[in-house]
Amino acid sequence: MPRQSVPELKPVPRLLMGPGPINAYPQVLRALSVQLLGQFDPQFRRYMAETSALYRKVFQTRNRQTLMVDGTARAGIEAALVSLIEPGDRVLVLVFGRFGHLLSEIASRCGADVRTLETPWGTVFEPDAIERAVKKHRPKLLATCQGDTSTTMAQPLADIGRICARYGALSFVDATATLGGMPLPVDRWGLDVVSAGLQKCLGGPSGIAPMTISDRAAARIYQRRHIEQGLQKKGYRPGTGKRIRSNYFDLAMIMDYWSDQALNHHTEATSMLYAARECGRLLVAEGLTHAFARHATTSRQVLEGLRDLDLVPYGDLAHKMPNVTGVWIPKDVNGERARHRMLERHNIEIGTSFGPLHGKIWRIGAMGANARPAPVRRTLAALREVLRSERRR
Ligand SMILES: Cc1ncc(COP(=O)(O)O)c(C=O)c1O
Repeated sequence: MPRQSVPELKPVPRLLMGPGPINAYPQVLRALSVQLLGQFDPQFRRYMAETSALYRKVFQTRNRQTLMVDGTARAGIEAALVSLIEPGDRVLVLVFGRFGHLLSEIASRCGADVRTLETPWGTVFEPDAIERAVKKHRPKLLATCQGDTSTTMAQPLADIGRICARYGALSFVDATATLGGMPLPVDRWGLDVVSAGLQKCLGGPSGIAPMTISDRAAARIYQRRHIEQGLQKKGYRPGTGKRIRSNYFDLAMIMDYWSDQALNHHTEATSMLYAARECGRLLVAEGLTHAFARHATTSRQVLEGLRDLDLVPYGDLAHKMPNVTGVWIPKDVNGERARHRMLERHNIEIGTSFGPLHGKIWRIGAMGANARPAPVRRTLAALREVLRSERRR
């Protein structure tokens, strides 16, 4: 046998208690190792249909267009925004952290006339403030995160659909950080396009983006349907709207790929589809209500544990995401050295944050498989030791 210079993968196991990624459910890892199928194999098309059906339950929607976009969570965001926004369209973005800035950056790359409504990090918006901004800017699209992982805040969304409907706007929600961890009844709240990733509360790896699209948003996207030349069939007529500026993220073609037409748009990321199906299957089997309660209970446990360590939680706790908790790094502690000790000595990963919060707060995630008492207890015990060791220096 030839000598192997690179050994097989065998990382030291870590407990991932940061803002994501997190440890995947074992069943999801098993699904990832299932042998590949061709994407037009009837078995595989059945798995796709099952995945759509599962995510209709996860998103609490009847939207026919409930599908997966291959790529990390931002692939879902890019696909939604590039397919919904025509250059020159006005888009209002709610910015309450780093990922709000990401939405406005992507919208501006799509050629939108971007307006933002901003609130200090650690806070969220009142519905009245959102309504006033929509009335003022009259956007074609309102875009927001549900949870902005950078600040750990969750924006209440129950009024968004009503506000958008009143002023003729569509809505887009990035639910990467929250899907499966807190309520997001897409139809009840009248949201148009919602996208996510697997790597947070859904308990999978990043690499595929679940998405749901309302009928009216799908109709808007289909007006821009321009199938690539080599795939056009006899009698093909393009849509009347402007061609979507990305081929890979063209949701009109991706919807056709997921439909009975089975348009051969891209080669499926087969293993990621298996993983998404397994994440959805586990969540639906557990029950959404149970999963939300489990994340909420764990969040309280994290907060109590941090207070026992005399640490001060970050931000407006009434609007904290249940799956990630921010905590101020004490003045007498080197935050990065402490995180390093957590990883190297205890094999536990926690996060810091971005921009103005970098090095100021840690972020502790307890989600998916790790939204349970044992991982939280282990993390808090390690943090106690790390704080002691920092203070002895
Ligand atoms: C709220 C939110 N949106 C978008 C993203 C981007 O996801 P990805 O890194 O999978 O592209 C993240 C990642 O952490 C996130 O937390």
